[in-house]
Amino acid sequence: MADSRTSADGGMETSYGFREVADGEKQGLVNEVFHKVAKRYDVMNDVMSMGLHRAWKDAMIAALNPRKDATYKVLDVAGGTGDIAFRIVEASNRLAHATVLDINGSMLGVGAERAEKKKLSDNLTFVEANAEELPFEPNSFDAYTIAFGIRNVPHIDVALKEAYRVLKRGGRLLVLEFSEVDLPLLDRVYDAWSFNAIPRFGKAITGEAEPYQYLVESIRKFPNQQDFATMIGEAGFSRVSFTNYTGGIAALHSGWKL
Ligand SMILES: C[S@@+](CC[C@H](N)C(=O)[O-])C[C@H]1O[C@@H](n2cnc3c(N)ncnc32)[C@H](O)[C@@H]1O
Repeated sequence: MADSRTSADGGMETSYGFREVADGEKQGLVNEVFHKVAKRYDVMNDVMSMGLHRAWKDAMIAALNPRKDATYKVLDVAGGTGDIAFRIVEASNRLAHATVLDINGSMLGVGAERAEKKKLSDNLTFVEANAEELPFEPNSFDAYTIAFGIRNVPHIDVALKEAYRVLKRGGRLLVLEFSEVDLPLLDRVYDAWSFNAIPRFGKAITGEAEPYQYLVESIRKFPNQQDFATMIGEAGFSRVSFTNYTGGIAALHSGWKL
């Protein structure tokens, strides 16, 4: 299942939130969003998720259970301001090495500053690159993580194939992403929060509502748990499974390169 499709005039289209845009246009629009929000990204994450993103990220790291040795190498894609990579390094008793890869230099800049303050820089490398074209040799990493990143990538199928390529045999893929809410009352509350409160808080805190409008719309356009699990399998991964968090507001997908 690919996320790009042919438009009426024969060109390729993909979704940018609820809008259809030309295939080549999405990445530039996404990059603008994250350039605009980079400095306020961490604060807004707490506001948007009412702090829940911290618990979901902690659960992701518990599922990964990073090896506590210096040969353990993780690639955190769409790593932004470093939340996942920091947790991985700390959970490994500061032994593992994490590469934080992101297409956006503004997000990585905030991440590198935070890493210095936390004295984690020795265990981290920051790389500005595209998830669809990873600048690494095949079979390089023990684990590939991506949190709240994959729905922003224009060609999810390409990014998943790249994940498979750079993982070592026996390596693990973990994807944390907003997903489909499966509780009847929660879905209404969640809709009201997403479409009314989040863009307003975004405007109040960052001066911009539009990036947050995109973020909530992009969540609704992302494949549901089962469909995304199928895509992971199609990229070559085995033993694909998922776990819902908070009634499916977020889900953690797992796959192995066997
Ligand atoms: C919502 S943030 C997630 C940041 C971090 N993983 C976290 O959980 O806090 C999404 C990130 O995806 C990055 N991104 C979007 N498209 C990308 C691509 N094609 N390749 C790599 N990173 C991308 C953005 O620049 C942004 O930093």
